[in-house]
Amino acid sequence: MPFNIHQEVPQHVMEEQKAIAQALQSRLKKRFGHNPLALVHTFGCQQNVADSEKLKGILAQMGFSFTDSPEKADLILFNTCAIRENAETKVFGNIGNLKQLKAAKPSMLIGICGCMTEQPHVVEKLKKSYPYVGFVFGSHSAYLLPSLLQSCLDEGKRVFRVAPDDGCVAEGVPAVREDGVKAWMSIMYGCDNFCSYCVVPYVRGRERSRRPERILEEFKKLVQSGYKDITLLGQNVNSYGKGLEEPTDFSSLLEQLNAVPGDFRIRFMTSHPKDCTHRLIDTIARCEKVCNHIHLPVQCGSSRVLKEMNRHYDREGYLDLVNYAREKIPDVTFTSDIIVGFPGETYDEFQETLSLLREVKYISLYTFIFSPRPGTKAAAMPDPVSGEEKGKWFRELLALQDEIGMEQMHPYIGRTVRVLAEDFGRTGEGILQGRTESNLITEFPGSPSLVGQFVNIKIQSAKKWALLGQLSQ
Ligand code: 5AD
Ligand code: SF4
Repeated sequence: MPFNIHQEVPQHVMEEQKAIAQALQSRLKKRFGHNPLALVHTFGCQQNVADSEKLKGILAQMGFSFTDSPEKADLILFNTCAIRENAETKVFGNIGNLKQLKAAKPSMLIGICGCMTEQPHVVEKLKKSYPYVGFVFGSHSAYLLPSLLQSCLDEGKRVFRVAPDDGCVAEGVPAVREDGVKAWMSIMYGCDNFCSYCVVPYVRGRERSRRPERILEEFKKLVQSGYKDITLLGQNVNSYGKGLEEPTDFSSLLEQLNAVPGDFRIRFMTSHPKDCTHRLIDTIARCEKVCNHIHLPVQCGSSRVLKEMNRHYDREGYLDLVNYAREKIPDVTFTSDIIVGFPGETYDEFQETLSLLREVKYISLYTFIFSPRPGTKAAAMPDPVSGEEKGKWFRELLALQDEIGMEQMHPYIGRTVRVLAEDFGRTGEGILQGRTESNLITEFPGSPSLVGQFVNIKIQSAKKWALLGQLSQ
């Protein structure tokens, strides 16, 4: 059963939480002897970044300002990622590093939240081995942060609130956004796809969409506040709208957002190929504010392995989609996620991934070596290829993508492209960085006052990771 709008947290509950947050202000100030400072550290994907912005919004209601310094922080919150084993190891390493800080400053509050905390083995480990972690909660319970902290302070006990089967949509949580030009906005939560390697459906629960009018309201506010590049987030945005009382879909949502007046760009991720329809591609082509870049994770190029991954499309179907998008959307570019060394994948099958890369010509890739996740189907599959061998395949993949990525840059030399100036560049002082509509990073000399504006850049050369150019009319 898909979740529907009745899963929206009732407004009075949200208001109660806000009141608790505000009531905690003077108590926290007293505890720390000054206006309190929080450090919120985000591990993992953009969804987590967006969640952390909301967590900061709730902490701000309690009177917290923010710091990057663990020594200065009165409260440290880690928003964690469970997607691969090394992500978890990294988080535990970071939690371990807090032991001495807490010993030196016993009033400090330490919390762990997000995907990792929805796994029983992690909760056990936190309970047993990290006694200085005071409060733990999953992403479903983030809106309850005020009452969790209140219990922690009232009872002086550790608080654990993890509910893997729970799932709701909390509206009206304010976000503290780091960036003034680019914004991330969740349009749905959870995932129903159960790709055989992936832990996300277990830790983020069933798919549930926000109501379109809620999204529209937040989106308009972002545009009014001057955001120029807004990315719509969901594990599979292409199945947006399922389970809502008023039937709708992602194409209709894009049409509505595209119609909002203003000079801005709309991006979205992630698009699951199995639900990417011609209708959606036609919509992207028609909506001038929707960027001509599609993050369309293929995962691998072998139809047999895709079946084992439970992806519900094959190589041919994927390539048909790419070709259709190429026909309809001028200058469209693609990026993808690739997993190397799925259990049972042979070297010949891995070569099919490389040949697919040559056909699609992605501008860049997010590449991973398969990591067995507890409880997933793939974790129980025989996996005869050694880690060392997979490492070799992985390097072969990266080398090929380097060549392909570079090839994608060259045709731009001599062209003038519209770029949103986003930040300072990497290549030196006085250099700004932005992206083209098709998501190619571009660097150019310019005044910091241009940040947040669209500029025309004449491209003069290309590096592996960026186009380089000059301002032009
Ligand atoms: N091992 C390796 N990569 C994984 N991903 C998800 N689960 C795993 C896993 N167990 C990758 C997929 C997904 C991206 C977000 O992370 O490529 O698209
Ligand atoms: Fe994981 Fe597949 Fe869901 Fe993406 S679509 S979050 S890879 S299960």
